[in-house]
Formats: sequence, structure tokens, C-alpha cells
Amino acid sequence: MHKKNIFAISGSLRWGSSNHAILQALSKMCPTDINYSIYNGLSEIPAFDPGLDDDNPPPAILSLRKQLADADGIILCTPEYAYGVPGALKNALDWMVSSASFSGKPTSLITASTGGENAHKALIKILGAIDANLLKNATLLVSFIRSKMDADGNIIDAETAQKLQSVFNALLRSL
Ligand SMILES: Cc1cc2nc3c(=O)[nH]c(=O)nc-3n(C[C@H](O)[C@H](O)[C@H](O)COP(=O)(O)O)c2cc1C
Repeated sequence: MHKKNIFAISGSLRWGSSNHAILQALSKMCPTDINYSIYNGLSEIPAFDPGLDDDNPPPAILSLRKQLADADGIILCTPEYAYGVPGALKNALDWMVSSASFSGKPTSLITASTGGENAHKALIKILGAIDANLLKNATLLVSFIRSKMDADGNIIDAETAQKLQSVFNALLRSL
């Protein structure tokens, strides 16, 4: 039988990123009969060019679209930079508008940042624009993320750990 796929994207490219650590923590909650993968191509995505946004876009875009097409559920987990969505993530999402790659897909949004309210709000709008099925119970803002994690990326705040489990369960139920 076809194994369901969860495809996770971190909006931070930073080595030791707390958002990446959250995605790793979620992978440990994943049942063995579900594939869970974390996207590793965000830094390879070229700057969005509507003139190249056709059926034969740059290879990195084709690859991301394919991985999204194969996904039964999507997780975006991202910090906020300069009161907005990190440029690399926004750029990748711009490439996904015309392909409708998110259309109808159960999607979880986790914004983990120092504050994060602005990026979180903006992403809710963006995901609406690209017709993602953003799951209310799988939408979470975690402020002061660095204080809720130890140096090894373990979540040390019990309430945050519980909320992340609940977000992940909501995504699993939607698959
Ligand atoms: C250039 C820069 C700008 C930032 N701007 C914001 C901001 O506007 N709002 C916010 O909540 N955090 C901001 N931060 C802090 C990040 O939220 C914090 O570094 C976070 O841990 C980054 O996520 P990561 O650990 O996954 O890399 C900024 C960080 C950097 C490096």
C-alpha cells in the first residue's frame, strides 16, 4: 500500500537552526508507516522570475514541485526576519503559486521565532493565496523559541512540546 508522505520545509538555512530542530523533533513523533522528509534544497532555489515560471522551470523548482506533489501533508516551520517571512522561503513559495503545488494539501504552519507574529500572519495570508488547506489545529506561533530549546535542539519547555505534539497529531489526522 502507498505510504503517506509528510514533507517539511524549514524557513531557516542556519546551521543549528531551532526551526530545523523542531522539524527533527516532529520526525521522532512520526509513526513508522508514514514517510517524513525534510526539504534540503531551499538554498538552491533561484530568485523568482515570472518569465521562467512555465512548464519547464529551473531544475530546483521542478524538484520542489515534484516533492510537494508527492506530499500528502506539508509542514512549514520558520522564523521571522526583519518583521517578515524569510526571503528564501517567500521566494520558494512565489514559485509555487502558478503550479498550484499547495492546492488543497493539508498544511501545518509553525512560526518559531523571537516574536514571529508578523511572519505568522503573512504566511497565513500567503497559504490562503496558494489555496493550501491550512489546518487551524496545526497552526502554531512559538515566540521566544531560543529559550524553549537547549543547545542540542531539544525542546525543554513542556507546554511547547505538548503544543507541537498536538499540531503534529492534527496533521496526521488529516492525511
Ligand atoms: C537578520 C535577522 C533579523 C531578525 N528579525 C527578527 C524579527 O523581525 N522578528 C523575530 O521574531 N525574530 C527576528 N530575528 C531572530 C530570529 O527569530 C531568531 O534568530 C531565530 O532563532 C531564527 O530561527 P532559527 O533558529 O531557526 O535560525 C532575526 C534574526 C536575524 C538574524
